[in-house]
Amino acid sequence: MFEKILLSVDGSEHALRAAHKAAELARTVNAKEIHVVVVYDPIPIYLGEPNMQIAITSRRGEAEEILKTAVQEVGDVPCPVHSGILEGSPAEAIIEVANTSKCDLIVMGSRGLGQLAGLLLGSTSQKVVAHAPCPVLIVR
Ligand SMILES: Nc1ncnc2c1ncn2[C@@H]1O[C@H](COP(=O)(O)OP(=O)(O)OP(=O)(O)O)[C@@H](O)[C@H]1O
Ligand SMILES: [Mg+2]
Repeated sequence: MFEKILLSVDGSEHALRAAHKAAELARTVNAKEIHVVVVYDPIPIYLGEPNMQIAITSRRGEAEEILKTAVQEVGDVPCPVHSGILEGSPAEAIIEVANTSKCDLIVMGSRGLGQLAGLLLGSTSQKVVAHAPCPVLIVR
């Protein structure tokens, strides 16, 4: 049913819970692949060099840590787990990967690292739910 699962993570507790659920689901449905992705905001070009390169290296370093923790949380699953770092607007990048990799399920948290108290659904989740080409599992 769900062969290619896209798990999107941002380093938040919610995203880790999403990783746990994605793994449970992958084991249950015998998924064929899990893609774990983290997106960092575009680095403004006006920073110039070498600042731009320093900013990119720092963002990629943080993204690698986030991915490492998420992949650990996924743990043992009966399929390959691929991870990827993307630059851009998170929701747009997640939807693009879901399209190009032909994912049949997106798993993500209801909230992320945003500070707005009381928000039930973050803006990334809202946009993905609205525009995704496949079912979306929102984990609370
Ligand atoms: N940069 C990102 N890269 C990958 N996944 C992300 C990213 N940001 C958010 N997500 C996914 O979306 C889920 C919900 O996060 P979202 O950004 O919608 O909420 P928020 O941070 O609480 O609110 P907001 O960003 O609107 O202030 C996260 O748990 C994660 O699964
Ligand atoms: Mg957010």
